[in-house]
Amino acid sequence: MKISLQRKEYKNSKSIFDQESNPLKKFKNWYKEAEKKVLEPNAFTLSTSYKNKPSSRMMLLKGIDEKLIFFTNKISRKGKDIASNKFASMVFWWKEIDKQVRIEGKLKELPKKDTSKYFYSRPRQSQIAALVSIQSSKLHSYNDLILEFKRIEKKYSKNNEKIPLPKFWTGYTLDPKLIEFWQGGNCRLHQRLEFKKNKNRWIKSVLAP
Ligand SMILES: Cc1cc2nc3c(=O)[nH]c(=O)nc-3n(C[C@H](O)[C@H](O)[C@H](O)COP(=O)(O)O)c2cc1C
Repeated sequence: MKISLQRKEYKNSKSIFDQESNPLKKFKNWYKEAEKKVLEPNAFTLSTSYKNKPSSRMMLLKGIDEKLIFFTNKISRKGKDIASNKFASMVFWWKEIDKQVRIEGKLKELPKKDTSKYFYSRPRQSQIAALVSIQSSKLHSYNDLILEFKRIEKKYSKNNEKIPLPKFWTGYTLDPKLIEFWQGGNCRLHQRLEFKKNKNRWIKSVLAP
């Protein structure tokens, strides 16, 4: 393995510096471009922290309006992090279009009715999986999880009963205060455009790569 020799040239020379003053609109435009070429454009890295100790994991974005939405388990490691510190960051890496977007902001729990609406839009088996998985807790064995899945599946199958929405399952919205757009260019001369929110106004800066 010659990791130090692994080198990809970035070649996207199209300018990212346009007149757009709303970074969420720009994010949506980049997202539309990513949708055409990237297999899972909604996959992002979420970083949270607990007592100054950061932790990161991949997540799936489930909505963009003025805020960004994702769903998870409140008693997972990230859920505990979020309970103690509402600030989080997201990173999207769309390698097929040489683009990265970094987003930072504060998280808020979604109203239960919105979480419920999304939960019941998921396939029934995903609902059961969410109910039986105490995310990030230690399992005696993987097989125990499978047995519990089958037990719950059977329990609710009689009259095709509704799977209860787990109390620990929730959605969060991230209200962005910083959004940075990065595009890989020739000779490592990448383009970076940062939007920082100051009293409801977005301040735009070009950053060195
Ligand atoms: C592509 C991808 C998407 C994922 N999406 C989610 C998600 O939307 N919600 C979630 O809770 N976990 C998701 N996971 C699992 C997390 O990465 C992680 O393993 C889990 O949430 C436990 O993290 P924690 O212990 O830091 O809380 C995803 C993993 C991958 C690889």
